[in-house]
Amino acid sequence: MAGNWKMYKTYDEALKFIYEVNNKLPNKDVVETIIFPPAMLLVSLVKRQGDNLEIGAQNMHYENCGAYTGEISAEMLRTVGVTHVLVGHNERRRYFAESDEDVNKKAQQALEHSLSPVICFGETEEQYLHHNTDNILRRQVHAALIGLPEDKMDKVILAYEPIWAVGTGKTATPEIANEKCKLIRSFVEELYGKDTANNMRILYGGSVNPDNIKSLVDQPDVDGALVGGASLDSSKFIDMAFKVANQK
Ligand code: PGA
Repeated sequence: MAGNWKMYKTYDEALKFIYEVNNKLPNKDVVETIIFPPAMLLVSLVKRQGDNLEIGAQNMHYENCGAYTGEISAEMLRTVGVTHVLVGHNERRRYFAESDEDVNKKAQQALEHSLSPVICFGETEEQYLHHNTDNILRRQVHAALIGLPEDKMDKVILAYEPIWAVGTGKTATPEIANEKCKLIRSFVEELYGKDTANNMRILYGGSVNPDNIKSLVDQPDVDGALVGGASLDSSKFIDMAFKVANQK
């Protein structure tokens, strides 16, 4: 269960959230619960996170260090206690021109520094209406995963996030979410074999909320959810984490 805060919450609002969810989340042995706050809040939140919450970054650069104004490296994240990083979110791809190649380099770099990349894939509404989803997903998944070391694939998490569903209130039906997560799993199998594909955690994201999360994560190929808007509210976040913990 992952919460992507995007560019929301001031320092005070973030601390309030952390105090509200600490000690109220399901045990980490049952469900891995992660929030992705804005970069400047990472250090403060890592220091205050409870036992059952992990903190991830929304972005990082694929180089170790260098003259890249405004960027953050994997080592900087890792050494303050960040455990995960979002890679290839559609807002990064669309507004910051992140390419398939960048996504692959970032995933490589994250794994080299013991961060778990949560790699996002998804089609636009136009591509969806033109029945192009499967081609788009195949291209994105192959490009993102190519060359990643097989022995580190257990640290990778994937997310199917149809762009037409993100932030729009138009959730994919549980059947569509399942079909596309299953398809993504088959692409993982093509590259890394059946065991890796079966063990891969694949999330659905796009207008997930406390009312629809159960029907989505109850699907056999949907292992969890990546939630934007609804993750900003601490009581909704706790509620959703328990619904994922109780998935079929
Ligand atoms: P949403 O965002 O839940 O607000 O649709 C999902 C995401 O961007 O990961």
